[in-house]
Amino acid sequence: MTDQIKYQKNQLYIEGAPASDLAGKYGTPLYVYSANQITKRFETLKKAFSVLPKVKILYALKANSNVEILKHISSLGAGADTVSAGEIFLALESGFPPDSISLAGVGKTDRDIDFALTRKINVIIVESEEELKVVSKRAAALGRTARVLLRINPDVDARTHPHISTGLKENKFGINIDRAEDVAKLASKLKNIEFTGIHSHIGSQITEVEPFAEAAESIRKFVLKLKKGGIRVKQIDLGGGIGVRYKNSVRHKLLPIEKNGESTIDLPTLAKVIKERLSFPNCEIAIEPGRFIVAEAGVLLTRILYRKESSDRTFIVVDAGMNDMMRHALYSAYHQIVPVQLRDAKHEVVDVVGPVCETTDAFAIQRRLPKVKRGDILAIMTAGAYGFSLSSNYNSRLKPAEVLVEKDYPRVIRDADTYEDLI
Ligand code: LLP
Repeated sequence: MTDQIKYQKNQLYIEGAPASDLAGKYGTPLYVYSANQITKRFETLKKAFSVLPKVKILYALKANSNVEILKHISSLGAGADTVSAGEIFLALESGFPPDSISLAGVGKTDRDIDFALTRKINVIIVESEEELKVVSKRAAALGRTARVLLRINPDVDARTHPHISTGLKENKFGINIDRAEDVAKLASKLKNIEFTGIHSHIGSQITEVEPFAEAAESIRKFVLKLKKGGIRVKQIDLGGGIGVRYKNSVRHKLLPIEKNGESTIDLPTLAKVIKERLSFPNCEIAIEPGRFIVAEAGVLLTRILYRKESSDRTFIVVDAGMNDMMRHALYSAYHQIVPVQLRDAKHEVVDVVGPVCETTDAFAIQRRLPKVKRGDILAIMTAGAYGFSLSSNYNSRLKPAEVLVEKDYPRVIRDADTYEDLI
């Protein structure tokens, strides 16, 4: 639940800015973010993980990589988890120190690797034996030493949506735990490689501590095995994946209460579990949260174009489409949807759909909402993570603007596309 995006009387506010004014001034669809909410989420994580003696929080840029959001997050003291040369470039532009940046990804190009090496980022996270050899070669060619973490695949079920589950052995990610010792031995021998430690990322939107505990246990055993073989581990990166609540993000007596709300991870318990399993002398721990930091800080505002009644459905057609926000189309993801100005209206069950020529272009199916009409503005809640960053120009639609509200003051941090941008 966000405390920076909420109703005052019957109006939805993002910090001190009324959502309806923002929609009127900047047009819709429109992403709006609260800087305060990002700060609060980061501080919550930092506090919970402060029980670990050496810990780093690396923000996963893929969740939201608007440069102004990145500048805000780097100013809070976060490091950066990147997956491409483009993300390294953005991280550096936004003030993340090079030695706080890691590069992950199952298919890095030589160009990505060279960029990481020449920009002197902290570590490259290697996902296969062949990639390790390529990194060694590229580092030799550039006259550098690459610090390397090996991403292991611990074969742990993250118990999340199958499309965002990454830690099972049938997933393409990481080095199978049974083969990892041989690869670590090779890494500690190869020229121009400094083997630094272990990485694992088992999935996203994880709502229980147990999968993390299983991954940590698997890493602990592996680190001890390496130690026996004389290989020292200086860094352990447990990846991202901490889930958030998508239901009841805002509450109001005129809104339906959303049933079967998700559970969330108790952060102090997670920190304790990690501490118990992964406290090795002089070994740094890192985590790579994306969603946890930015999801709740964002809303997507959209205007209702039409109401359409069919024999057994009422469709609410809005001006945002799956190109602006893919999460429902990709994962049937649930996002609370609320009118930004509430009237005392009867509730009805509707499908909220976009204008794109795809049946999956929807934001909610058979959802209870207060009765709404053409011209009303809806807020799609908890849209700060994997919202704009997954957007596209499909159907030659113009990508929406993004606005950041900082100390109650809204400013555009990315203009909406123009028709010229399509050429
Ligand atoms: N580290 C690595 C190596 C990752 O692959 C990811 C996310 C993260 C960190 C950050 O995970 P987070 O803390 O945000 O869960 N588009 C999907 C999510 C894809 C996540 C991909 N990897 C969605 O909208 O749910």
